[in-house]
Amino acid sequence: MPEQTIEVLPDLAAISRAAADDLLRVAAQAVKDRSRCLVALSGGSTPQQLYTLLTQPPYREHLPWNQMFFFWGDERCVPPTDPESSYGLAKRLLFDHAPVPAENIHRIPGELDPAETARIYADQLREFAMEDMRWPHLDWVLLGLGADGHTASLFPGKTSREEGELPVIPAKAEYQGRPAQRVTLTPLVFNAAWQVVFLVSGAEKADAVAGTLEGARDPVRWPAQRIQPEEGRVVWLVDQPAAGKLKK
Ligand code: 6PG
Repeated sequence: MPEQTIEVLPDLAAISRAAADDLLRVAAQAVKDRSRCLVALSGGSTPQQLYTLLTQPPYREHLPWNQMFFFWGDERCVPPTDPESSYGLAKRLLFDHAPVPAENIHRIPGELDPAETARIYADQLREFAMEDMRWPHLDWVLLGLGADGHTASLFPGKTSREEGELPVIPAKAEYQGRPAQRVTLTPLVFNAAWQVVFLVSGAEKADAVAGTLEGARDPVRWPAQRIQPEEGRVVWLVDQPAAGKLKK
């Protein structure tokens, strides 16, 4: 079982700041140890305050942007200019306002056929892998949690053979009317990460947080339970409303 900590803070602003501080610390250590920091971002609404925060002091001045390489945990199968694009969201809120070299940004090409997208992205990840690995140890992975318990595009009730064999797979699910066709990293990649941060806000997530963290072990029902880094740490940054049904 990986080292896992749960931090409950008052609101979205507080967990966003905690996530920014965590990235600052992890990025400095990763650059010191490995001269680079590989970051996987998330889509959705929760990370938006965090992305904006990173473009402001002290983060803007102190993050090692030149040695940071950006990936995504998943992407909707839409063009990068589509309002639903997770890449597009990060570009609008973060990359257009911070000195990130364009060549350091590795978006998932959601505009292509999903199977082709998955193949292309698996090849991109392999370029950053060490020695004989097929994917890298990501240094900092940001994940959200859906009200139904999904994380990235790993949805409840759906596991596949491919999820246990491939680093990147197409996925399909219905959630809040968002694009159903997705491409997602699998637990193979998430579980090789050094630091996984779940950023969860809002009372509508309380059941999913309690089910994932305090419910029976049921990774099919609670996909975030599939995220068990072999050597890395998992940090849950949860605001009070989202933690409302936690017993402990
Ligand atoms: C996405 C994310 C997805 C998200 C959750 C929570 O592309 O939507 O990968 O897993 O993190 O659905 O979304 P909210 O932050 O909008 O609640």
